[in-house]
Amino acid sequence: MPLDAAKLFDFDRLFEDLTAEGFGDWAATLKRETAAALSSDGHGSLTTWIDAWTKLPDIAADTIRLDQGAVEATGLISDDERAELRTTLQQFHPWRKGPFRLFDIDIDTEWRSDWKWDRLQNHVELRDRRILDVGCGNGYFGWRMLAAGASLVLGLDPFLLYVMQHEVLRRYLGPSCPNYVLPATDAIIPPRLNAFDVTFSMGVLYHRTSPVDHLKALHDSLKTGGQLVLETLIVDGDARRVLVPEGRYAKMRNVWFLPTVPMLELWLRRTKFTDIRLIDITATSTDEQRSTDWMTFESLPDFLDPADQTKTIEGYPAPVRAILTATGT
Ligand SMILES: C[S@@+](CC[C@H](N)C(=O)[O-])C[C@H]1O[C@@H](n2cnc3c(N)ncnc32)[C@H](O)[C@@H]1O
Repeated sequence: MPLDAAKLFDFDRLFEDLTAEGFGDWAATLKRETAAALSSDGHGSLTTWIDAWTKLPDIAADTIRLDQGAVEATGLISDDERAELRTTLQQFHPWRKGPFRLFDIDIDTEWRSDWKWDRLQNHVELRDRRILDVGCGNGYFGWRMLAAGASLVLGLDPFLLYVMQHEVLRRYLGPSCPNYVLPATDAIIPPRLNAFDVTFSMGVLYHRTSPVDHLKALHDSLKTGGQLVLETLIVDGDARRVLVPEGRYAKMRNVWFLPTVPMLELWLRRTKFTDIRLIDITATSTDEQRSTDWMTFESLPDFLDPADQTKTIEGYPAPVRAILTATGT
């Protein structure tokens, strides 16, 4: 598709496809809620980001690579255009999830999200599957899912900056690709939606005041027999233990429940998931999450106890993440 055909917030094909698949009522809800979210520009930032988006240089990629760590668009551009692109991309700071490479500009994001992808990609079949990614950030994983054969990826994230980053990336990586990021939360999933073959929730559960309600919503999103991929922070211990931080955890204000793996498995059984499998446990390293030129705020090295890297600055166990898969019933 030529770049001049690229439109901002162009979700019509998504709504049409969902309607054609029998989810017309939900498509209407998504359309209404998306319009509402995009018109409630609390701090005026969205207007600034949209203005920056319109200033992106009109250049088209010769080659797109979605199947590698740095999701990439390449093509011949002038030094002036590259400088203009870099300046405009930096207006969408902080870039947290990636990496991306656009016309030889390396967007070195806070997270090596590709490492998370490497840990899970062989445990989930995505070919011809319809995918929901709840809390998708800027949609990095959606591109990797398309490369793995997904027929449609719907990402939900309430943070408008990440929705805008996706709009920037979509412009060069494929305006017509079925990888969407909508400004919404898990609250938009109605009971018994039964729409998706695979639902991802990565890095979201511990932000929820009610993790069980989050798991119920994920279950509702899935077709019978559909697969959940769940990634979250965990602590060591048995099925009777869950850490609820007194205040901040790793300087984050909005962390509520860090279960043990047996506790998480119990929550999954109670919310009617079966075939629960633990596929990975990894302690987050300061190589995987760190400040960069594209995310200049504090990062993991600042969140750990300088005298003991196995603890957060508050004295809690340092971040360890588990990935589990489970089947919806
Ligand atoms: C730690 S990031 C994880 C991003 C990505 N899934 C990953 O694994 O790298 C958590 C994301 O969840 C989003 N989020 C927070 N509450 C949410 C909710 N109730 N529903 C959907 N997304 C939510 C945040 O805006 C943020 O982008």
